[in-house]
Amino acid sequence: MTDSRTVAAVVLAAGEGKRMRSALPKVLHPVGGRPMVLRVLDSLRPLVGGPLVVVVGRGGERVEAVLPEGVCVAWQPFPRGTGDAVRCALPHLEGHRGPVVVAYGDTPLVQEATFRQLVAAHLQGGYAATLVSAVVEAPAGLGRVVRGPDGSFQQVVEEADCTPEQRAIREVNTGLCCFEVEDLREALTQLVPQNAQGEYYLTDTFGWLRARGRRVGVVQVREVRQVMGVNSRKELAQAEETLRRRTLEALMESGVTVVDPDATYVAPDVRVGPDTVLLPFTVLEEGTVVGSGCQLGPGAHVRASRIGDRVRVLWSVVEESEVAEDCRIGPYAHLRPGTRLAARVVVGNFAEIKNSTVGEGTKVQHVSYLGDATVGRQVNIGAGTITCNFKYGVPGKHPTVIEDGAFIGSDTLLNAPVRVGAGAVTGAGAVVTKDVPPGMVAVGVPARVVRRARPQDER
Ligand code: UD1
Ligand code: CA
Repeated sequence: MTDSRTVAAVVLAAGEGKRMRSALPKVLHPVGGRPMVLRVLDSLRPLVGGPLVVVVGRGGERVEAVLPEGVCVAWQPFPRGTGDAVRCALPHLEGHRGPVVVAYGDTPLVQEATFRQLVAAHLQGGYAATLVSAVVEAPAGLGRVVRGPDGSFQQVVEEADCTPEQRAIREVNTGLCCFEVEDLREALTQLVPQNAQGEYYLTDTFGWLRARGRRVGVVQVREVRQVMGVNSRKELAQAEETLRRRTLEALMESGVTVVDPDATYVAPDVRVGPDTVLLPFTVLEEGTVVGSGCQLGPGAHVRASRIGDRVRVLWSVVEESEVAEDCRIGPYAHLRPGTRLAARVVVGNFAEIKNSTVGEGTKVQHVSYLGDATVGRQVNIGAGTITCNFKYGVPGKHPTVIEDGAFIGSDTLLNAPVRVGAGAVTGAGAVVTKDVPPGMVAVGVPARVVRRARPQDER
């Protein structure tokens, strides 16, 4: 048994989501790159000490698969309404005493503070049930909060069941609510599906409790957008937009310049240091950390990467990579997973790097491919250089090592596995099939060592 102030919670995620017209369960559609239902759980979990139950239905295996540990799953065999869904969760609340928060899996923007506000009001008021309402411009599709002449709460009426006068009410039910578990159990047994949709409405419990003289509280939220449900693709785009705005505003607040917020996309978990400038058409996807004083964009697309201070990225893609301070990337470069650039590396036009380490101050300026390579410091990778890391008929990828201060001439092919020693030089068009010793010059096809490198071999 839990103590009377421990909070339990039920998240409803078993609806059909018909209006989405999707094969994917509605609550799994991502907002800000994360399934909606997980966003609800993120905000709810910190205040839940008791059971946390997610009610699933059609496609529930897919929902279950993404749920974090410690969350109980209840199955609702048929989508017979939100009241029926909560009833399916009750067996998991056996032994729980005190408040139960109910939230809908399709309200991805709701914040922890709102849940806390709800529970605090519920406990302070000593209510049997407390619901969160909002006053909106366009209440279409939502349950209306009906109040008596003295302004006291009377009932929630679903739109389909509203009289014309009730339909004109602009205070709506957001779906977030909190119950004393005993009152919830009792009220759920009283539900009947006698309404326009033939469903068991959770929202009928409020009027039923109130009619029996129990106290029902209403908490009005100001920021309406955070509690809006997503029922259609249009509302999905609106939720995305709201979350994007919220994320960008927090970044600006913390000292990041966002030149055009309408053309900048940043996932909510991305961290960006102060005095970094985000130029238009920049997309920073989840798992990305950016330092301070950077200039990203126009057209920087970065995913799951760490970018150091004062880095510039122009019209380029960076994925699962680490870029140290003062690097310059682009235009038109592609850093693929496993790329690690040390400080002051320059990666220029049409350069692709994959699973490679590049040392401090090295330049990879033009049309080249480095794959599975370890490149030292102050190396010059000439235009058109290619590491041939893949051999026809031989499994696996082969490594290339280029040591400090080497100069790789234009159009060099490095036939891996191969090593170019420190300070060595390859001539333009060389096809390097054997290791080049440190300090030597190799030229030709296949490349042969011809002499010692001289200072005038431009470095
Ligand atoms: C619901 C409320 C309405 C409120 C609105 C706010 C009811 C009857 N109505 O309407 O007052 O204004 O939310 O967004 O509660 N679900 C189940 N099983 C079911 C039916 C629904 O788990 O049998 C889940 C859905 O997955 C969804 C949530 O409950 O996450 C809400 O269901 P939905 O059909 O979207 O309710 P609304 O019509 O939006
Ligand atoms: Ca809804």
